[in-house]
Parts: sequence; C-alpha cells; structure tokens
Amino acid sequence: METQGRVAVITGGASGIGRGMARAFAGAGMKLVLADLDEAMLADAAEEFSGKGVEVVTRRTDVSKLEEIEALAQVAQDRFGGVHVLCNNAGIGIPTPTHKLNLDDWRWMIDVDLWGPIYGVKVFLPIMEAQGEGHINSTSSLAGLVASGMMGAYNVAKHGVVALMATLERDLRGRKSPVHSSVLCPGPINTNISRHSVEYRPSKAKPKADGEKDGRAGSRIQAMLEQGMHPDEVGELVLDAVQRDTFWVLTHPNMIKLVTRQFDAMLDDGSLTKA
Ligand SMILES: NC(=O)c1ccc[n+]([C@@H]2O[C@H](COP(=O)([O-])OP(=O)(O)OC[C@H]3O[C@@H](n4cnc5c(N)ncnc54)[C@H](O)[C@@H]3O)[C@@H](O)[C@H]2O)c1
Repeated sequence: METQGRVAVITGGASGIGRGMARAFAGAGMKLVLADLDEAMLADAAEEFSGKGVEVVTRRTDVSKLEEIEALAQVAQDRFGGVHVLCNNAGIGIPTPTHKLNLDDWRWMIDVDLWGPIYGVKVFLPIMEAQGEGHINSTSSLAGLVASGMMGAYNVAKHGVVALMATLERDLRGRKSPVHSSVLCPGPINTNISRHSVEYRPSKAKPKADGEKDGRAGSRIQAMLEQGMHPDEVGELVLDAVQRDTFWVLTHPNMIKLVTRQFDAMLDDGSLTKA
C-alpha cells in the first residue's frame, strides 16, 4: 500500500514497539494517531513528532473497552478524514505459573491482548473497506506460535491474535477486499513492557507477594528483553509489510526453529517437545 499522506492509528503507540512503528510510518510520510493508556508518554510522543513537522493527534485509550476504540476511530476520522493503517499493538504480560494465575489476571491479559485487537478489527475494518484501501496489523508474539511455560494467559491471547489475523486475511482475500492484514510476531525486543505490566496490573489481580521463583522468572525475562532488538527496527519491518502487503512479520526468523521442533515432535512421537 502507498503510505505517503496516509493515516496510521497505533495503539500502545507512546512506547516501545508502537513508538518504533510511529517513527517508521512518519518517515514514510504518514500522519499519526497515537493511542495509549499513559497520557504523559503520549504528550512526549506528540512533542517528538510535531517537532519534526509530522501531523499527529493523541488519544488516551484503553483498548480493552469497545467504546474507547470507537471513540479513537472517530478522532482519527474527525481530524484526518480517514484511517489507512491500524496497528493493534498495545499489550501487557505477567509471567506466572498456570496453577497460580488468578482469574483477574487471566481476564486482564485476554481483555487487553486479545479483545483489544478484536475490537480494533471490528471497528476499523468497515471504515477501511468503505474507503477502498487499508491495512490492519496486530502485534502477537513468538508466544503466539509456541506456548512456553509461565505465560499461560499471554500465550492464549497471542495464539488468539495469530488465529484472528490469519482468519481475517483468508476472509479478506476470499472476497477480494481492498484491505490487507498482517501479524507481527516479535522475539525479544528492548522495551518497558515488564515495568508497564506491573504498573497496570489491576489491583485485585495482584497477589499479596509473588513467590521468589516467579520473581526470578520476571528478572530473567527482563534481562532477555534488555538484550533484545531495538523497537525502531521492528517499526521498519512493519512498515515494509504494510507497503508490500505481506502477512507474517518476524523479527527473529531463526527462532522459528522452536515452532518446527514442536511440529517435529508432534509427528515423531507425540511428545510436546523432544528432548
Ligand atoms: N518487548 C518484547 O519483547 C515483545 C515481544 C513480543 C511481543 N510483544 C508485544 O509488543 C506489543 C508492544 O509492547 P512493547 O514491548 O512495545 O511494550 P511497551 O510497554 O513499551 O509498549 C506497550 C504500550 O501499550 C500501552 N498499553 C498497555 N495496556 C494498554 C491498554 N489497556 N490500552 C492502551 N494501551 C495500553 C502501554 O502504556 C505501552 O505504551 C505488545 O502487544 C507486546 O505483547 C513485545
């Protein structure tokens, strides 16, 4: 899709990967609508982009609420007269072993990480189809392709996002829609997702004290993210998928061997993963 002069809406657009997408899209001549829970980070992003002469509007949005996604679409249309790219990117995740994951955590992670993209598709697809062009990208994860331990609700949501986008893409192509879609499956990216997730976790979901073992898992994940790819590089990969209408966006294609290893074990001896 041509990007020059078009409008991109990015959820979770104030930080990390979303901010990286905003930078890539702005560099390709797009106008930006940035949505996020954090108003201070949104103000900082607005300053960054307007300082570079990019047309930008921000809107505090909780992606787990349909009416807030509807209001976001209205803001984009009122300000720019259309929406050409939607990135359902806002997300959070807390590592917890399945037997300890309480129902409030399950609901929160699925509400944000899966219902957010579902609402995005529901609200923005008709706008793009009426307009005659558009692209919807949703951020899943490697956790949408392989379910590792400790990340139950996140894995369920991110597998759901891959299924949502793959089904959407087949349906769109099946009826020759002018809209295309793609799914981003990042490996480790250096962002503040761990800090934001701890900060946003609903108070009723917070356990009195996370066990030492769970805390160590959190620190291990944080250390891995700090070694991860820069989010601006991820933004460029998503821009490329939008411009070329490709479906899979992988940041670490070498890590796909985790997926093939699982399929090999499935066919070889029925185990989950062969030792
Ligand atoms: N960082 C990684 O290694 C990694 C790997 C795979 C997938 N992802 C996914 O990438 C996406 C972006 O995460 P990130 O790593 O850039 O983290 P980040 O915390 O830097 O950015 C996520 C943004 O989403 C916002 N957000 C959280 N809950 C929200 C809600 N309910 N409504 C609106 N905004 C909300 C946060 O304020 C934040 O600005 C997420 O979907 C995440 O699951 C990240």
